[in-house]
Amino acid sequence: MGILDGKVILVAGAGGIGTGLATRYAAEGARIVLGDINTASAEAAVAAIKDAGGEALAIHLDGSDEASATAAVATCVETYGGLDGLHANFAFLGDCDPGAGILELPLEIYDETQRINARGYYLCTRAALPAMIERGAGSIVYTSSAAANASTPAQVAYAMSKAAGQALMRHVATRYGQSGIRANTIAPALTLHPGIAELVPQEMIGWAQAAAAIKSRVGNPEDIAAMGALLLSDQGSYITGQVISIDGGTTMRP
Ligand SMILES: NC(=O)c1ccc[n+]([C@@H]2O[C@H](COP(=O)([O-])OP(=O)(O)OC[C@H]3O[C@@H](n4cnc5c(N)ncnc54)[C@H](O)[C@@H]3O)[C@@H](O)[C@H]2O)c1
Repeated sequence: MGILDGKVILVAGAGGIGTGLATRYAAEGARIVLGDINTASAEAAVAAIKDAGGEALAIHLDGSDEASATAAVATCVETYGGLDGLHANFAFLGDCDPGAGILELPLEIYDETQRINARGYYLCTRAALPAMIERGAGSIVYTSSAAANASTPAQVAYAMSKAAGQALMRHVATRYGQSGIRANTIAPALTLHPGIAELVPQEMIGWAQAAAAIKSRVGNPEDIAAMGALLLSDQGSYITGQVISIDGGTTMRP
């Protein structure tokens, strides 16, 4: 028995953190539909979940496409009988040049960042809400970033897209609380997994560690999944409308 026993959860975006989310939620007893534009990433995670005795299904999902998001929710309903939770976690990470400010960043990268990260979370939310309203309850978790809550000499498009997701979360929490639906945001700082270790130079990992109050390590997907599990569970039933930083104290907001 886990804290998500029997719940049906759509995890949108596999990769490093999404694999950690799906793995933890399944271990807590949830039935998982894990979608990614890179289907192989979702399939690998689902195979490991099944090997561990969990219940999960991998699907192709383009979270920035309305029909694809709608189909993902339909899969949850048809396969597992409904939808209790959505964790919108995918992202386009093309705005990652530390030398690029607003004057240098190509407009195409700005547009794609907003299209996937901001519009994509909007579309997945629109797809998920009717199924949750029908059930009379639901919990939506969005993965944001410390970049949305801190000053950023680079990654302006990424930070803007992640701030947009926080505004979306507050709208959902406010408007649909009366329908039994909660919405919250997790804002990680550097969260280490093999994909990020390849993308980010070693010195940046050192900087992230130095910037945090907790110096002994950087964050990992299990840290994000622990909070996600709480927020998706009934144990989190009085938590809504919040941005929760899982960043070792890198950002400290009132
Ligand atoms: N890892 C970090 O240091 C860190 C820090 C702060 C915030 N985040 C956030 O955490 C989330 C997960 O990041 P990650 O580190 O696991 O990155 P990742 O690249 O390992 O995973 C992101 C996944 O999103 C998928 N994706 C991209 N576009 C998609 C689309 N249109 N539809 C469906 N899937 C799509 C990718 O294929 C990939 O599997 C992202 O929202 C990211 O912004 C990560």
